[in-house]
Amino acid sequence: MPKDKFDLYVENLQKIIYEEEIRDYNERIVQLYHDPKNWGKPSDDEITASKSYEGPCGDTMSFFLKIKNNIIEKANFLTDGCGASVATGCQTTLLIENKSLDDAEKIKAEDIDAALNGLPEDHKHCAELAYRTLKLAIADYKGLVSSK
Ligand code: FES
Repeated sequence: MPKDKFDLYVENLQKIIYEEEIRDYNERIVQLYHDPKNWGKPSDDEITASKSYEGPCGDTMSFFLKIKNNIIEKANFLTDGCGASVATGCQTTLLIENKSLDDAEKIKAEDIDAALNGLPEDHKHCAELAYRTLKLAIADYKGLVSSK
């Protein structure tokens, strides 16, 4: 079906919005925001640790980890936060998948920020939200392990 005037108008508008997002953030952040890998809660049998955390900005993030033999085999996330928080949550799961718990625990908010090629100054705290949620999910897992 050929594109009508309205289709072309919408297409052009989307292009303008996308270009503005890249100007305000960067290509990596916008890419992950629009196509967040590892988004969503997996089935219960794929979760060995999970935690939700509400950051100082009022936004919440959740991590769902599948850990086996101290390796994070699968990492998923959810957030009700801003576009940058979608990118930080996603980037964090990409950084920790197939890593040992020890390595995942070494990841800092600055590492998440760097992997995203730098969040804008007023969104640096979005990396902090992902970092703190990850720490809590790992602590939750360690708590479960030590109580068994
Ligand atoms: Fe709250 Fe980005 S503004 S996480």
